Amino acid sequence: MIAVSVKPLFVAIFTLSLVLAIILLSPSNPLSQDLVSSNSLVGKVDIWNVRRMVEWRPCKWWLQGNPTPLPMESNGYIRVDCYGGLNQMRRDLCDGVGVARLLNATLVLPKFQVAAYWNESSGFADVFDVDYFIQQLNGFVKVVKELPSEIASKEPFHVDCSKRKGQFDYVESVLPSLIEHRFISLTPQVVQRRDRYPKYAKAALCQACYSALRLTKSLEKKGSELHQAIPKPFLSLHLRFEPDMVAYSQCEYAGLSPASMEAIEAARGDDRKPWTGELARIWRKRGKCPLTPNETALTLQALSIPTNTHIYLAAGDGIMEIEGLTSVYSNVVTKAALLSNEDFTTMHGNTKAALDYYVSINSDSYVATYFGNMDKMVAAMRAFKGLNKTLFLSRKAFAELTFQGLKGEELMQALWEAHKEDFERGRGSALPDCFCEFKL
Ligand SMILES: *[C@@H]1O[C@H](CO)[C@@H](O)[C@H](O)[C@H]1NC(C)=O
Ligand SMILES: *[C@@H]1O[C@H](CO)[C@@H](O)[C@H](O)[C@H]1NC(C)=O
Ligand SMILES: *[C@@H]1O[C@H](CO)[C@@H](O)[C@H](O)[C@H]1NC(C)=O
Ligand SMILES: *[C@@H]1O[C@H](CO)[C@@H](O)[C@H](O)[C@H]1NC(C)=O
Repeated sequence: MIAVSVKPLFVAIFTLSLVLAIILLSPSNPLSQDLVSSNSLVGKVDIWNVRRMVEWRPCKWWLQGNPTPLPMESNGYIRVDCYGGLNQMRRDLCDGVGVARLLNATLVLPKFQVAAYWNESSGFADVFDVDYFIQQLNGFVKVVKELPSEIASKEPFHVDCSKRKGQFDYVESVLPSLIEHRFISLTPQVVQRRDRYPKYAKAALCQACYSALRLTKSLEKKGSELHQAIPKPFLSLHLRFEPDMVAYSQCEYAGLSPASMEAIEAARGDDRKPWTGELARIWRKRGKCPLTPNETALTLQALSIPTNTHIYLAAGDGIMEIEGLTSVYSNVVTKAALLSNEDFTTMHGNTKAALDYYVSINSDSYVATYFGNMDKMVAAMRAFKGLNKTLFLSRKAFAELTFQGLKGEELMQALWEAHKEDFERGRGSALPDCFCEFKL
C-alpha cells in the first residue's frame, strides 16, 4: 500500500518543484526578486527599515489634558528618598511624585541617596535642574524648595514602602502618618492599587518623569560636548555585561577569561550563587541572562546592522570580554576615549550615568542588551521625543534558539525573525503607564 502511494506523491512533488524552478529562474518574473530577498533578508534590509504596526506615544490624557485643579488644602509635606543607581532613583522619584499628588501633599525636593559603590555625593540638584523641575510641575503637584520654619527644624517621619507587596494602598497606609506628622520622607514602590489611582495622580507622575527632569546646565553642556565628539550617525549600545550585573543575574557563562571570572566572583554576594545544570537552562530560557559582547555582536549582525556602524558604548567602565564586540564592530567609542582625561577621572558614577543617558536619548538609534532601569527610562524618553529606532535585544530568543541547536546562518535568520516581530509590534519599547499604543 505504502509503496504504491509514495510514487504519485513523488511525481507530484517533482512536477511542482520543476514548475516552481521555472517560475523562479525566469528573469522576467517579478516574483523572483521578492522570493530571493525574503529568503535571505539578513544582509539586505536593516531592522530599522522594518515597518512598524504599533508605536508608543505619550498618552493624550497626560500631555494635552488640563490637570485637575490642585486642592486648596495640603495634607502635609513629602520628601521622596531615592536609593540606588541614577535611573533607579529617578524611577522612585517619579513614583513618589505620583504618590504626593494622590495624597494631596506638597512635595519637598527629593533626596538622592547615593549607594556606596558610587563613592560620591551628588544629590538631586547636582544632576537635575531644580527650577525647571518646579516650573514643569506647576499645576500637577505643589513643590516647595524650602519648608515652612515650624516644620524645617524637624526630621521627617520615615515611611518605607519599598518592601511592601501586593494590593497596597497609599491612602489607607500612608495618609494617616502624613496627617499625624505633617512631614514624612517616603521610599516609594509602584504597587498602588490601580483602581484607586486617579488620572490626575498618574499625570503628575508622567509629567515629573518625562517632562520635568532636565539635566543641570553644566551636565547638559558636558553631554552635548560628548555627543558632538561621536561620529554620526551612531548607535548607542547599552551593553550591560559588567561584573555586578553578571553576578546579580546568577547566570553561568562558558569561555570567560580568568580575569572576568575573578571580577564576577568578587562582585558575587553569598546569596547569589549561579544556577547550574537544568535550572541554569531554564533560567537562561526565561531570558534572565545578560547577553555577552559576543552574543550581542552576533545579534546585531543578524539584524543587518552594518559592522562599520559607529557605536557608542553607553555603559560603565567595567564591561568584560569586550573584544567579542570590537572584533566584529570596529567603530566602537567609549566615554573614556572621548572625554578629556581630567573630566573622566574627576567624574562620578552618577555623572557618567547622566552622560550615557544624555547621549542615548539623542542618538540615532538605541539598542539595549538588558531590560534595566536605564533602558526603560531611555526607551520612554526616546518615545517621548518621537525617536523610533529603539530596540531591546531578546535574551529569551537568543537562549531558546541556541538551545534548539541553531547555528550560523540559520541562527541569524531565526534571530532576525524574532526581533523583527518585536520591532513591528513595538514590544517592550516604552513604559506603558504614561504611553499609549498607537496603531499605524
Ligand atoms: C520613524 O519616524 C520617522 C519620522 O517620524 C518616520 O518617517 C518613520 O516612518 C518611522 N519609522 C518607523 C519604523 O516607524
Ligand atoms: C484630594 O483632593 C481631591 C479634591 O481635590 C479629593 O477628591 C481627594 O479625595 C483628596 N484625596 C486625599 C487623599 O485627600
Ligand atoms: C572614594 O573617593 C575618595 C575621594 O575621592 C577616594 O580617596 C577613595 O579611595 C574612594 N574609595 C573607593 C572605594 O573608591
Ligand atoms: C567569544 O568568541 C570568541 C571567538 O570569536 C571566543 O574565542 C571566545 O571564547 C568567546 N567568548 C565568550 C565569552 O563566549
